[in-house]
Amino acid sequence: MLGIIGAMAEEVEQLKKEMAQPEIISVAGMDFYKGTIQGKEAVVVRSGVGKVNAAVCVQILVDRFGVEGIVNTGIAGSLKAEIDIGDLVLATDAVQHDVDATQFSYPLGQIPQMGVLAFEADRKLREIAAECCLKVNSDIRVHEGRVLTGDQFVSSKEKKTWLTKTFGGACTEMEGAAIAQAAYLNQVPFLIVRAISDKADDSAQMDYEEFERLAIVHSVNLTRALIRAC
Ligand code: ADE
Repeated sequence: MLGIIGAMAEEVEQLKKEMAQPEIISVAGMDFYKGTIQGKEAVVVRSGVGKVNAAVCVQILVDRFGVEGIVNTGIAGSLKAEIDIGDLVLATDAVQHDVDATQFSYPLGQIPQMGVLAFEADRKLREIAAECCLKVNSDIRVHEGRVLTGDQFVSSKEKKTWLTKTFGGACTEMEGAAIAQAAYLNQVPFLIVRAISDKADDSAQMDYEEFERLAIVHSVNLTRALIRAC
């Protein structure tokens, strides 16, 4: 059974609507919807925004629901000129860009004593997602790349340039790498699926407001297909 996490209500409300006779279990202020979508058992939940909410949510999915995989669906700011608003990004791996223990000789982004800088997404889930894209979102471009996560909305050219120079990266958002780290600790496979709502630069806030809905439709379409295929 997959656990599906979206940070915001809009990111999961459509999937919740499509769930047949869901059981709703509330833990830590989060409503976990357990039921079937496309004939497959799944748990869908809104985690709330940011790394801590996201990590707590993963732990509950693992402990209480015994999920076998986790998919994070949502929107993100693009970090590359060729990744446009409405496009999809499948994570290859995820890094927390706001971690800085350089004082102790760790590279930027690396959490002390974790032994890894980037948390790798599950290859099989990625492959299935890429196949699903061809079927359900064939007119939408799909990219694969690193997701950069931090407890901040990135909306300046300077910050965007710093992020890409420091970490590389295809897109930036506020939960993915925390979900990745929590999944890694629990040895549960995960995938981050993000649709682009803005370019993470000075126009980000305006674009975000205009394109949020469209981007959510794209990531939800893929997530639904992924649930069916898994
Ligand atoms: N989610 C969508 N766009 C974002 C941005 N520019 N920064 C952080 N999170 C986002």
